[in-house]
Amino acid sequence: MPVTAFECKSLSGSAEWKWYRGSSPSEGTASFFERRVRDMDSSQFKFAHRFDQVSGSAIREIFKVIAQPGMISFAGGNPSPDALPDEIVREISGEVLRDNGKTLLQYGATEGYMPFLESLKAYVQDQLQCNIPAVLPVTGSTQAMDLLCKSLIDPGDCILVENPSFLGNMQCMKLYQARLVPVDSDDDGMMMEDLEEKICRYHPKMLYTIPTFQNPTGKTLPADRRKKVAELAGKYQMVVAEDDPYRDLRYEGSPLLSIKSFDKDGWVMFLGSFSKIISPGLRVGFIAGHPDIIRKCTVGKQSSDVHTANLNQAIVDQFLRRNLLPDHIEKVCANYGKKMSFMLSKLQNFPEGVTFTKPQGGLFIWVELPSHMDALSLLNKAIEKKVAFVPGTHFCVDGGHLNTIRLNFSNSTIEQIDQGMNVLNDLIIDNI
Ligand SMILES: Cc1ncc(COP(=O)(O)O)c(C=O)c1O
Repeated sequence: MPVTAFECKSLSGSAEWKWYRGSSPSEGTASFFERRVRDMDSSQFKFAHRFDQVSGSAIREIFKVIAQPGMISFAGGNPSPDALPDEIVREISGEVLRDNGKTLLQYGATEGYMPFLESLKAYVQDQLQCNIPAVLPVTGSTQAMDLLCKSLIDPGDCILVENPSFLGNMQCMKLYQARLVPVDSDDDGMMMEDLEEKICRYHPKMLYTIPTFQNPTGKTLPADRRKKVAELAGKYQMVVAEDDPYRDLRYEGSPLLSIKSFDKDGWVMFLGSFSKIISPGLRVGFIAGHPDIIRKCTVGKQSSDVHTANLNQAIVDQFLRRNLLPDHIEKVCANYGKKMSFMLSKLQNFPEGVTFTKPQGGLFIWVELPSHMDALSLLNKAIEKKVAFVPGTHFCVDGGHLNTIRLNFSNSTIEQIDQGMNVLNDLIIDNI
């Protein structure tokens, strides 16, 4: 198939990106790929091979555009500004600095700020309803993924991933030169038959999964599959990275046990974050699980950032000790739940042929347009009308899935959702 340039201009006008369809000797047989027009290869610098699979994020182009005033953005994954507890954090910061300022402003232990380690361990055990042998506070759960890969992944190792999956962590895996192999999903997430088949075929070192209100689809893996994942991990000796930053953002239904809670042999590592329930700017997350892996991650962290900011650990520690999270999460969930229901009700009125997930929580809805439609060109038209979203192709392991989009509802008001969804509806009708 000849390569044809795809109708999509760089969103920022800097013409850095172009999308292509077809196959070529240099790009292989992929039916879809993106390439930098201003290529890194033209640089005078010889960059490390670990960047070979990582082309930089086209999503960042979108974020430059959505910074324009008046833009309605369904693109990010940010908490709503009114969900950020700035007043409480201000009060706590003053108190912890008054009581313990000299220690907090000094270097700390890589293993974590001692009082936080204590409250965190109790919190994680309570959340997961199982014994947690070791936990390491990290600088956002993004760092947990980085440290896991640093500890476990050699170039060429296989990691199984959901498809689509969280772009940030897939980029991390690619920087460690992993080979990413997608596992097939249905409406409930990963399918266990395909998972076992891929384990047997590719002998992966790790499975990366976001089991609750997945980013980008909003899907939740049911309890029986969670149990099965833990069993397969033990049977085939594969580490599972259970990335669960959205588990508390539930607006309907009952909480599910974590994969970790079914883990008998220590193969499941649980990655948690306070970004979505307190503040992403504090950059406090954690990784919990087998002490041997936690130890390797700790050694890896020493050369990354020495330790997670003491002051930020102390702030989250106070949230846990003062039991502030339940009330705060309840308020946030009430707010996001209304926004999600409203966005879903708008989608109900979209033209026939548009399908979408119906999550019970989290921050995202995944939309499939009729198969001939193109979310990349739809995005350009939407941006002209001051509405932004992320085309689903960016979350897919091998690209493709051009007719999909990810919508975020947390960071817009009900009025903005109303207005923005009307714009998308009209554009889809015009292009169907
Ligand atoms: C699935 C998933 N994992 C991890 C992260 C990163 O979270 P943190 O802010 O804790 O680094 C995100 C952020 O959006 C996410 O969606």
